[in-house]
Amino acid sequence: MTGFATRQLHAGARPDPGITPRATPIYLTAGFVMDDFDHAVDHFSTGDGYSYTRVANPTNEAVEEKIADLERGAEALLVGSGQAAVAITILGLLEAGTHLVSASQIYEGTRGLFLDNLPRYGIETDFVDDANNPLAWEAAIRPETRALFAESIPNPRNEILDIEAIAAVAHAHGIPLIIDSTLATPYLVRPLEHGADIVIHSASKFFAGHGAVLGGVVVDNGGFDTSSTLFPHLTRQTRTGGPSFAERAGGLARITYLREVMALRFGPTLSPFNAFLIGQGIETLSLRVERQSANALGVARWLEQQPEVQSVDYSGLPANPYHALAQRYLPNGQGSVFSFTLAGGTDAARALINALEVITHMTHLGDVRSLALHLATTSHNQRTAEELDRAGIQPGSIRLSIGIEDLADLVADLDRGLAAVRALSV
Ligand SMILES: Cc1ncc(COP(=O)(O)O)c(C=O)c1O
Repeated sequence: MTGFATRQLHAGARPDPGITPRATPIYLTAGFVMDDFDHAVDHFSTGDGYSYTRVANPTNEAVEEKIADLERGAEALLVGSGQAAVAITILGLLEAGTHLVSASQIYEGTRGLFLDNLPRYGIETDFVDDANNPLAWEAAIRPETRALFAESIPNPRNEILDIEAIAAVAHAHGIPLIIDSTLATPYLVRPLEHGADIVIHSASKFFAGHGAVLGGVVVDNGGFDTSSTLFPHLTRQTRTGGPSFAERAGGLARITYLREVMALRFGPTLSPFNAFLIGQGIETLSLRVERQSANALGVARWLEQQPEVQSVDYSGLPANPYHALAQRYLPNGQGSVFSFTLAGGTDAARALINALEVITHMTHLGDVRSLALHLATTSHNQRTAEELDRAGIQPGSIRLSIGIEDLADLVADLDRGLAAVRALSV
């Protein structure tokens, strides 16, 4: 199977021998019955088979295999939310006294975790504003830096990341580049093919696609350097003198640690029911993302012609400073999440959002339905005026996540919104 659309349907499918249901069954069970005494002995010594859903579940595994295949990764791990995926990845790689360097244009929940919460565990983060400048990353790296973190399509201004340039910086220091690729999906870009080491998604967004469930996933390229001295928890013997993760899992040491320690001990298990919905969503991922990207480009083109609109931040537009990078990394479409700014500031944004009838006003992304959110007063309300300005978020900035509706209806809805903006000055 080589085609993306074929793989999104068939990779990871596991029809049971004998009864062969076509859809992956939902093994909605806390645990699994042991055949006999020796079966349990065998499971607890080798880890083979199933015992308890926090350890392993066939529905979740089928979806993990599908996602690993689509990302061209070695192994994937599903957890309860995108935020859990970010948290366990960082906590599974870094420890007290170590340091993270992150792009500053990232999802606000992730930024808050790095800024407000990880310091309690002795992990400090420095942020890089100029995310495509390798020298800016170099300048932030310290001897105790253990990972670089960025988003492939950063939320909310569609400022495409030069993944290869930042991966080269990470590898020169023997540390992994972690990419949150939620807004891109593997249909648009596969960061591991460009040198990233770990990819994270909020599966709540484009993967599930229909805004019904939360989920998160970590995909590893299987390239952990077992001779590294930077991650002692992966290379030292276990408490009981057993082989280290590196000895046991080789290049898969990182993802094995995430699965066996971070997911198992910290416990952010994804419900098999949610895994089923995510797997089913992925079966139409390329169709949705293709349509959403085309719709987004149509909306962006229309918005940039409107006098009330001061700017449109979408890399699909030829005048956008990220257009060349977008053509290189995202030739199949530039995603459907971007922002635009109304010249009339907060009052104009309020008038537009309150007039929308088709586009839903809510904080979510990657839904089949189009969504809108005013940034400065909601998702970004913890940023100072100076931080907002540096991030290019102004009082009139609105984020859109474009869905699969008819483009003409989306344009008509935004036109209705702009009429409400014009009415303010009458
Ligand atoms: C880019 C990105 N990463 C991670 C998350 C967190 O995902 P979740 O809401 O599934 O916890 C989000 C949520 O909006 C996001 O936009």
